[in-house]
This record gives sequence, structure tokens and C-alpha cells, in this order.
Amino acid sequence: MKQQLENIKAQAIEMVAEAQDRAELDAARVKFLGKKGELTAILKQMGKLTPEERPVMGQLANEVRAYIETLITEATEKIKKIEMEKALEKETIDVTIPGKPNTIGHKHPLSIVLDEVKDIFFGMGFNIATGPEVEWDYYNFEALNIPKDHPARDTQDTFYITENMLLRTQTSPMQIRVMEKEQPPIRIIAPGRVFRSDAVDATHSPLFHQIEGLVVDKGITMGDLKGCLETFAKQLYGENTKIRLRPHHFPFTEPSCEIDVSCFRCGGKGCPMCKGEGWIEILGGGMVHPKVLKTGGIDPEVYSGFAFGMGLERLVMFRFNIDDMRLLYENDVRFLSQF
Ligand code: DAH
Repeated sequence: MKQQLENIKAQAIEMVAEAQDRAELDAARVKFLGKKGELTAILKQMGKLTPEERPVMGQLANEVRAYIETLITEATEKIKKIEMEKALEKETIDVTIPGKPNTIGHKHPLSIVLDEVKDIFFGMGFNIATGPEVEWDYYNFEALNIPKDHPARDTQDTFYITENMLLRTQTSPMQIRVMEKEQPPIRIIAPGRVFRSDAVDATHSPLFHQIEGLVVDKGITMGDLKGCLETFAKQLYGENTKIRLRPHHFPFTEPSCEIDVSCFRCGGKGCPMCKGEGWIEILGGGMVHPKVLKTGGIDPEVYSGFAFGMGLERLVMFRFNIDDMRLLYENDVRFLSQF
């Protein structure tokens, strides 16, 4: 039995020395130390030994077992190390290669200008009002003094969801929604998306943005409208900016006007930006029609107000000298990164 144990030890030394990888070492472990392994087989024969021989052989068997175990464990560690080194070699990183910079985005030009506009009106004590883009015909037209057969509807053709529900063509319905909810003094702007069934070209888009304004209080006059919008124009385009009011017609204001600012490029002399006019139209506005106040639940005998509306795209295009509105929606990073 002693000889057998010596043989097993010798075989194990040889097999471990020749092992190329962890699988082969595992095989050696099973062969010698496993439940059905050679060492176990020998230990099973211990019963046949004399009581004197038994402890001697037992000790020897244990020594051989411990020896083989250490042998295999050490060999496994060595192979693991080699495998790790090989893997590291394969996965080497060239730390001298320049990294890819993270590009940081920024605000879209529409948001840049909208935020400026908001800031200016916040400074004058205005709040923001928001409302639905899918709107009732009632708020979008009817309550604004634009009945079913009114010609103003032709210029604001839109997308109907049902006979009475549509994508709002203007932010003006917010006037009614705010008046229904709030009592004067009212001082809000309502920026948002609006929709019209226009074909896309350099100056038209079926989706664009407007900013509505509404002020209602006792004793509000056209002078307040002018002062407010002059302050706005000077802050947006510079101290030297002038405004001018031209008579116009909107069904929901009376009197109504269009508001021009002196050209911020040429200062009013006339240039390609203002098409030689010296003035650029940026707003529509007027005194809120008494019928509209009444519809909004406000007594026109006690209160008066002014309202205005402007197109955000127009402001942005003039501000950044963009000649094609489509550029604002294509989201081409080469274009957007300029602002
Ligand atoms: N909603 C009008 C439009 O889309 C613009 C406008 C004009 C708004 C006069 C107003 C206003 O509040 O008083 O053409």
C-alpha cells in the first residue's frame, strides 16, 4: 500500500507539471482526490490492514493527499496569473490616444428668444399662462368674436378633430380661459404652439409659436399698451428702438393695431432686413373688445384691457438673421450650434 501511495504521488507530480490549463488541473484533482479518485480507492482498503499498520498508512495517505492538494492549488494560481497576464496584454489601452470630448448641447434658438421675452415680461409683473393645444372652436374663434361665417376663419384654417374641436390657430383663446378663471388685475403672457394648415415654405409652417399677452384692470388705455410694448421692444432690441402703431383690424380687439419696431439692423434708414422700410412688423394688438371681456365674465363698464400677440419664429428669424423658417425645425446640429 505504501508503494501504491508513492506511485500516486509520483503520477500526480507528473500530471500537474504537464497541465496546460485549469481544465487539466481540475481533471487531475478529480483523478486523484475525487470521491471516485485513486486515493479514495486506497483509503477504502484500510480495513484490510492490521491495527498496527492502519495509523501509519492513514498518516501517509493524509500526507500524500495534502501534498497533492497543495500542488494542484499552487499550479492553479500560477495558471490563473498567466491567463490574466495574457488577457491584459490583449486588452491593453493606449492611454495616449486623445479622448472623445463630450459635446454639450444648448438651448434651441426658439427657446433662447422665448426665455428673453419671458424675462422681459416677468420684469413688468406678468405671469405665464398655459392652455391646451387641442382647443374648442368656442375658445379659438367663437368667444373671440369670430363666429362660424366670419372671414377671419379663412386665414386661420386649421386641423379639426371634430366639428367643434381643433388644433388652436392662435394663442388668443388663452385670453378667454384666463378671464374665466381670474379676476382683474390680470397680467399674463401665454406662449405656446399653434397650428394652421399652411404648406411648408421659407416663411410658413403648419406648426409655429405665438406669445399672447393680456392685461385687464381698471382704467387701462391704449397708452398702457404702447408703453408696455415700447419697453418690451427696447429691452429686446436695444434702447434706441422705436415702435409705431398702425391701425388694423382684429375681431377681438377694438381699436386694433399692428406694431412695428424700427429696424434693428439699420436703425430705420432702410436696409435689406427691413426691405428698405426702416420698420419691421412684430406684433398685433389692441384694446380688448367689450364683447370679449363680457364673454370672459368681466364687466366692460368697470374694467378695460389690452391684448397683443406675436409670432416667436419671426422674432427669432430677425434676431439671428435667419432667412428660412424650416431651419428652425430641421434640428441640424451644424445649424443649431451657431447660436
Ligand atoms: N391672434 C392673432 C393672430 O394670430 C394675433 C393677435 C392680434 C393677438 C391682436 C392679439 C391681438 O391678442 O390683440 O393673428
